[in-house]
Amino acid sequence: MAKLTVSDLDLKGKKVLMRVDFNVPIKDGVIGNDNRIVAALPTIKYVSEHGGKAILLSHLGRIKKEEDKPGLSMRPVAERLSNLLNKPVTFVPTTEGKQLEDAIDGLNDGDVLVMENTRYEDVKNGENVKRESGNDPELGKYWASLGDVFVNDAFGTAHRSHASNVGIASNMGQTAAGFLMEKEIKFIGGAVDNPEHPFVAILGGAKVSDKIGVIDNLLAKADKILIGGGMTYTFYAAKGMKIGNSLVEKDKIDLAKEILDKAGDKLVLPTDSVVAEKFDNDAAHKTVDGDIPDGYMALDIGPKSIAEFEDVLKSAKTVVWNGPMGVFEMSNYAEGTLEIGKFLGTLTEAKTIVGGGDSTAAVQQLGVADKLSHISTGGGASLEYLEGKTLPGIAAISDK
Ligand code: 3PG
Repeated sequence: MAKLTVSDLDLKGKKVLMRVDFNVPIKDGVIGNDNRIVAALPTIKYVSEHGGKAILLSHLGRIKKEEDKPGLSMRPVAERLSNLLNKPVTFVPTTEGKQLEDAIDGLNDGDVLVMENTRYEDVKNGENVKRESGNDPELGKYWASLGDVFVNDAFGTAHRSHASNVGIASNMGQTAAGFLMEKEIKFIGGAVDNPEHPFVAILGGAKVSDKIGVIDNLLAKADKILIGGGMTYTFYAAKGMKIGNSLVEKDKIDLAKEILDKAGDKLVLPTDSVVAEKFDNDAAHKTVDGDIPDGYMALDIGPKSIAEFEDVLKSAKTVVWNGPMGVFEMSNYAEGTLEIGKFLGTLTEAKTIVGGGDSTAAVQQLGVADKLSHISTGGGASLEYLEGKTLPGIAAISDK
């Protein structure tokens, strides 16, 4: 059933609590990448332009002790948001109490306020009390009391059942999805529940263990699953092939065998690899077919595999990509990831959905991000969604 969205709400003059995921990389107060802030702008602007008073809550990093707090303040995030919106944003350096309540009471229609990191509530007086991440019922109730309506746009946090998403929702009559949440549900949820065929998944990354849930779920839904990255060589080992010094999860070889038996020709492994003598961009390297020779480790898929993958992808109507094809951060082993990213940009007839840090970085570096249907803002959330799990943050949004 379709979810209630922010455009279904009457916002004029209302205090609009908004859970966003502004968990961005930050070091010494400098934001590394503001994609998640940019992705939430349409909903924030909509609320503000429709006369709502936007009260934004987000976590940032993980707070385990008092000393973690100063480096994980939302202040730089509020400043970046103000720059992006090109208007003042009120930052309140606390998560509860009179200062916050007075600041909210002082808002005019259309104003935007950011409160301090919700995970400051995880540590009180030096004690690790986990009020936010343990979904303390009193905290969810308190935050809910600060607003008239609740909009959840934090897809990246949807796999968590925390006070600032599920806790607030359980204390509000209705919870609406923001536009980002709506888009993530439409594309990732749509691919999992009702994909247009042929549906091709491209799964990469180092470990079979990280992707096993996704492989399992998508084997029942996808027409082909293309495998790349380090996990390829656990599958090679399961087939009895030589893997040289390549990455392998020895305790997952039996599992890889089971997957191969179950998948038949649905699972497509690379047929050639770029191999190097060391895990080093400047190490001697070459391309080999099949078995990885002794003394070498595989660090990327080879050109034949790229062509074979593109051949499968060219007729796809739905494509989901998560995880790099090789050691993307080293230029000599980045080609597989970059070529797949570039090719996805040419698939104008398909729904193309990308998730995961390296695959997203690749399509952004290539400048093809705007040619794709959807770049997910979720890390763990998008993986769990692809695994077919119910995400508590989404389950807590009201149906239309
Ligand atoms: C993420 O970055 O995946 C989300 O913001 C959730 O963060 P967490 O893993 O610290 O809960």
